[in-house]
Amino acid sequence: MILLDGKKVSKERNLKLKEDIQKAVEKYKRPPKLAIILVGNNPASLSYVKGKNKACKLVGIENDMYHLDENISEKELRNLIISLNQDDTVDGILLQLPIPKHLDEDMFIDLIKREKDADGFHVINQGYLYQKKKTIYPATPKGIMTLLNTYEIDPKGMRAVVIGRSNIVGFPVARLLMDRGATITVCHSKTKDLGYHTRQANIIVAAVGKPKIVTKDMVKPGAVIIDVGVNRVDGKLIGDVDFHQLEDVASYMTPVPGGVGPMTIHSLLENTFELYMEHVKKD
Ligand code: GUN
Repeated sequence: MILLDGKKVSKERNLKLKEDIQKAVEKYKRPPKLAIILVGNNPASLSYVKGKNKACKLVGIENDMYHLDENISEKELRNLIISLNQDDTVDGILLQLPIPKHLDEDMFIDLIKREKDADGFHVINQGYLYQKKKTIYPATPKGIMTLLNTYEIDPKGMRAVVIGRSNIVGFPVARLLMDRGATITVCHSKTKDLGYHTRQANIIVAAVGKPKIVTKDMVKPGAVIIDVGVNRVDGKLIGDVDFHQLEDVASYMTPVPGGVGPMTIHSLLENTFELYMEHVKKD
């Protein structure tokens, strides 16, 4: 089994991105800037945001952090997003999800100006993706596709089974794999006999958030396994895939941690730089 080493690939690509950003800063006289909004103190979100913050600094992306109270009103959050939309020094905005239940997540995602949507979650940007048009892609699916490209894994003609149908990962990654010529099955919580589907797969993308639900008996020998799961069990990070069981079965596999996670952050940095380039070219 060959490890799909997201940590290594993202590190190499971040170095290249840093150079590209340096050149752009010389030309356009200001660095890219990402505004990160975190509402409340969800421990996983805090940790993700810290990682994003650190990665931005590493490649030369400026970073404004807005850590808001759990009980913030809809009006206050709306005012902040509107002011960031209007702020000409801000290129990208990221609203860390989930947000507290009293706030309308979809409404706030779509309130972020489409041209500053670093996550690619805006309904119009997702619409472009589903119509196979150029747009900002959600970071996790984009990172997965970059990882497959780097290891020269061509999805063309393959059967791909995606477990999970979220707007953030499952659905968009299915679309991107289909664009690359794979035949797609999307499984989810209502799927009967998950193993029946996964056993036919040449590529499995597991994005359900359930520790080790993909086991040896569910995987065809030689399959490529992409594990998006980040489950905290007894203080340890565990994927959706039983890594040790599959070491002798898979041809390629991502570890958790160190697989999809760092590629997601790298893609967010790429997205921010893309938004910046569009922004400065317009000025
Ligand atoms: N929560 C879990 N994943 C993500 C992500 O990629 N972006 C944002 N904004 N929130 C998330």
